Amino acid sequence: MPETPLNPTHAWKALAAHAAEIKGQHLRDLLVQSERCQQMRRQLPGLLFDFARQLATTQTLKLLLDFGQQVDLSAKIQSMRRGEAINATENRAVLHYALRAPQQTGSDPRPQVGEQDAIAEVHDALAKIAAFAEEIRTGTRRGVTGRRLTDVVVIGIGGSYLGTEFVYEALRTDPFCASLAGKRRLRFLANVDPIDVARALAGLRADRTLVVIVSKTFTTAETILNAKTVRAWLREHLNRNDVSPHLAAVSAATGEAMAFGVPEERVFPMWDWVGGRYSVCSAVGLLPLALQFGMEPMQEFLQGARALDQHFFTAPLEDNLPVLMGLWGLWNVSFLGHPARAVLPYCQALHRFAAHLQQLDMESNGKRVTMSGQELSQDAGEIVFGEPGTNGQHSFFQLMHQGRVVPADFIGFRRSQRPASVAGEAVANHDELMANFFAQPDALAIGQTREQAAQICRNEKKPTELAPHRVFPGNRPSNVLLLDQLTPHSLGQLLALYEHRTAVQGFLWDINSFDQWGVELGKVTAKTVRRQLAACRAHPKTEIAGFNPSTQFLLQAYTG
Ligand code: F6P
Repeated sequence: MPETPLNPTHAWKALAAHAAEIKGQHLRDLLVQSERCQQMRRQLPGLLFDFARQLATTQTLKLLLDFGQQVDLSAKIQSMRRGEAINATENRAVLHYALRAPQQTGSDPRPQVGEQDAIAEVHDALAKIAAFAEEIRTGTRRGVTGRRLTDVVVIGIGGSYLGTEFVYEALRTDPFCASLAGKRRLRFLANVDPIDVARALAGLRADRTLVVIVSKTFTTAETILNAKTVRAWLREHLNRNDVSPHLAAVSAATGEAMAFGVPEERVFPMWDWVGGRYSVCSAVGLLPLALQFGMEPMQEFLQGARALDQHFFTAPLEDNLPVLMGLWGLWNVSFLGHPARAVLPYCQALHRFAAHLQQLDMESNGKRVTMSGQELSQDAGEIVFGEPGTNGQHSFFQLMHQGRVVPADFIGFRRSQRPASVAGEAVANHDELMANFFAQPDALAIGQTREQAAQICRNEKKPTELAPHRVFPGNRPSNVLLLDQLTPHSLGQLLALYEHRTAVQGFLWDINSFDQWGVELGKVTAKTVRRQLAACRAHPKTEIAGFNPSTQFLLQAYTG
């Protein structure tokens, strides 16, 4: 019988017993042990991972690694690499790493999906993206009026949107990328809310706009309605029915995209073996980003992700960053009982990272049954949220310091994309930011005792009754990731690191991180409501029926 959280045998029980002991320890004592601190960090070129602020000892790490071995973590990672159908409920391989694999794989495994050579298909697609992006950027391909297509509106939602926007936001202030973008504009339209249409199109001219419809299935209701809305806008402003020179698509459903009016040669592929939330490195992300920045930085981005893939597939578990991050996630959720995780990049360019991770992590690991369909005995998944530092400090950090325990990932950079300093200031602006970056994890971990709080009150000549309000319990765990600089390459590393971390955590919980049945029920329910709304709009006297009394009342209020 395999070891799973549902079937806790030796290693799980050992961790549970160990957790009971660890809960009696305090990070303020653990953090002064220099040998422990030394053993609780790892380094890759350009990337430092310090986990000394986990409420854990080196023994904890050993027990977590034992558990990883007992659940055959390495074997699961290699099954993914070989292209086995580890997304069992959909009978699909999980090959997003192939999106950035080199064309020639040498002695490394080369995944085949049926007859398909996945890596060869990826490189064909990359060549097609590079050619198309170049033609649009240089003006070889133009719009129907002969004008250059300088603006791109990307229509898509969920995995067909969040990752691309996160990468775009991260790179648009990188000086190299900014110079390549020039005056080009990239907009996103995701929400079916018509306000989002208005925002996406504001200030754009149809004759200069290329619309990229991104939908793996080409059936997603929000995306299709938005695509129809924008196609109508193009038709109206270009004064013609055939607006195909202004359209492109990324989809696994080429026929549907063509039926919509996108010429076949402008449909870029998606594959069953890439899940939406893992698809940034496919045409889903690469086409819009190459249109904006050109192919050169995007190749660097792919290389950064590839370097991390190589590390993930070859490093021993105890030195493997995604594995270690996944193990600490497991420890905090399943053994210390902390269901949430804050992602805190001290870098404004990463302001959409948490939004991307919310989908990546929560759609992947928010599951209730094991791979074989048995109910989990404990909750899986983490509640992910975040904001860039220092903004978050002036918002929800209060709760993190004195309310709930929320394990956090602090992500910072040694150098800024856009350094600045003010004459006469003691430190440059980036140092000011980073002073907070280094301070917050310690404040969370070490806290402030009642005695210290009382002393501060006395020093400030304030009543000591305030002391309890100024106590910080500390013992709040966090990871620290320190990278050199936010560039296309390091961004690729960061993306792959978190993709693999997510998969690792799913492997440890024995859940399927690659399906998403949980989004279906709401979609089906919406169809019933949509039918009712259509009937009411067509015949205002139509009776609202078939709903519970509350929904019936609400629909009456809405349509009345
Ligand atoms: O939200 C569910 C979901 O299926 C995601 O997994 C996916 O990324 C998104 O919808 C968009 O789907 P599509 O690319 O097929 O439009």
